[in-house]
Parts: sequence; C-alpha cells; structure tokens
Amino acid sequence: MTPPLPTGSARMAGQTVLITGGTGGIGKATAIGLAALGARVGITGRDEARTLAAAADIKRESGNPAVDAYAADLSSQAEVRRLATAVLNDYSRLDVLVNNVGGFWAHRHVTPDGLERTFAVNHLAAFLLTDLLRDRLMESAPARIINVSSNAQAMGHIDFDDLQGTKNYSGSRAYNQSKLAGVMFTYELSRRLHGTKVTATALHPGVVNTAFSAEDPSVLARAARPLMRFMKTPAQGAATSIYLASSPDVQGVTGRYFAGSKPKASNKVSYDTIAANRLWQISADLVGLPASRLG
Ligand SMILES: NC(=O)c1ccc[n+]([C@@H]2O[C@H](COP(=O)([O-])OP(=O)(O)OC[C@H]3O[C@@H](n4cnc5c(N)ncnc54)[C@H](OP(=O)(O)O)[C@@H]3O)[C@@H](O)[C@H]2O)c1
Repeated sequence: MTPPLPTGSARMAGQTVLITGGTGGIGKATAIGLAALGARVGITGRDEARTLAAAADIKRESGNPAVDAYAADLSSQAEVRRLATAVLNDYSRLDVLVNNVGGFWAHRHVTPDGLERTFAVNHLAAFLLTDLLRDRLMESAPARIINVSSNAQAMGHIDFDDLQGTKNYSGSRAYNQSKLAGVMFTYELSRRLHGTKVTATALHPGVVNTAFSAEDPSVLARAARPLMRFMKTPAQGAATSIYLASSPDVQGVTGRYFAGSKPKASNKVSYDTIAANRLWQISADLVGLPASRLG
C-alpha cells in the first residue's frame, strides 16, 4: 500500500528527481513520497549494497519501479564528480535536485580532500553537485533545487577565519555553521539563477527520529536517545521536502527558507549578500570551480 501523501503535493509523473542520502531517514522517506507521486527517483548512499537495498524498499513501498541507486561518498569531491557524470549519463532531464545528505560529528574528521568533514559533506558537496547538474536542471526548467538545512542555522556563525575548525573544533559549531552556509548558498544561488526558471529553496525538516549523528554522537545526543521515539517519524520529517519538490503552490518560489511547509525567516546573517558572495567565492575555490560559474 502506498503511503499517505503530504497536503499540497501534486502528481509528478514524467519528472525526474535526484535525492542525495536516500538510504535511510528523511531522504529515504522523501524518495518514497516522490516515487509514490509518480516521479522517477534516483537516490544516493555510500555503500552499494545498502543503496540497492534501499532502492528496492522504495520501489516496494511507493509502488513505483522507477527508482535508481547511485553509490557515492559525498565527502570526496572526486566521488561527487563521478556521481554527477553518472546522473548526467542516465537522466536526459532533471526536474528536482534534493541536496539532503548531512551529518553531525562530535569530533573533527578530515575528508580525502583534506577538508573538515562537516563543512565538506553538509555544504561543499551540495555546492559542487548543484554546479555539475545545473545545466541539466536549466534544460529541464521549470526545475527546483531543494537544500535540506536545519533550524540549527539560526545558531550558526560563518567563521571566515577558520571555516575548517582547525583551531578549536566543536561538533555543534561546525554543524550550525554548515547549515547556515547551506541557507546562504540557497539564497545566493537563487540570485544567480534569476531569470532561469530554476528555483532554490532551503528547509528545516523538524526534529526527526533517524540515524542522524549516530556515527560520532555528542554526549547530549547519547543522553537524549530515549527521547527519540517522541520525535517526528521520517515520513513526517520528509513532508516539507516533498511539498517543495512537488507542490504547484511553490512553483516559481525561490530564495526562501521553509519549516512545516511554510516560509520562515532564517538567521539574520543569511540575508547578508556580501557575506554570501564571499562564502560562494571560498566554496568555489575549495571545490576547484571558477567563482563565476553559476553566475
Ligand atoms: N534528523 C533530524 O532531526 C534533522 C533535523 C534537522 C535537519 N536534518 C537534516 O536532514 C538531513 C537528513 O538527515 P537524517 O536525519 O535523515 O540523517 P540520516 O538518517 O543519518 O541519513 C543520512 C543519509 O545521508 C547519507 N550519507 C551520510 N553521509 C554520507 C556521505 N558522506 N556521502 C553520501 N551519503 C551520505 C546516508 O547514507 P549511508 O549511510 O547509507 O551512506 C543516509 O542516506 C541532513 O541534512 C540533516 O542535517 C535532520
């Protein structure tokens, strides 16, 4: 039996969607919801067997066989590039990109590119993947780019002097910063996509019972584990992503932050266009793209 669909969502037959991080949690529930609406859905995960197993679950739960699995570790820029090449080979159109992958790590980890993992996975992977898929999204317009952020963005601060947390790493500071970076990226992207009919929105999914932060949890997260059953289910947490991906209500809506499928103000800093442009230049440099791309 297909799951109940969030209010405001619309049929998506003929549309193609890529959701990063679709093997579990909010991403998998988003994939089930969008596949149930009739979209062809691609999901990603780090492990091939796990990603294929998740795709099989999504096919079964949505009743839609058009689900594709892509194995890629988005902490590696080479893997992001390989993923983009595979998607561009397979999909002649791309109507929706949901940059959903994200994580929290209590301790500082370094990626194969020598970057701090939270900033690399939560922000730079989405930045690079979006750039690599941009032309296909523009050819498929009207198209939508949806960045899964968090209300943690409200506590974020962009430390331009130490974006990689080399001096004094804190898991929550790195997470809050990465989620604020995602909102600033969304707003700057919407400005750079002006006139293209490709929109960019960001969202908070709610507090959701998933495997989030399980790899390297904080002391607080360990202590809060018994409370997880009182959190939203992944299906509830996917509602705003599904709404932004599918609803005619938000056709053409761009450069906005949503929570509970409603527009909401984000951190004051996120509206600073000079800071957003500076972050863009640094991000482009860190992923090896010319800063003028996507402009
Ligand atoms: N849960 C919450 O309460 C909450 C609240 C606010 C915002 N969010 C945001 O919602 C998004 C989804 O979180 P979630 O709670 O669903 O987390 P989750 O249960 O941990 O799922 C994360 C997904 O991302 C994939 N993933 C993780 N690291 C990856 C990497 N390096 N490369 C490729 N894929 C990777 C995982 O796949 P594999 O492990 O199979 O590779 C999995 O499919 C995140 O951006 C998170 O920041 C969550």
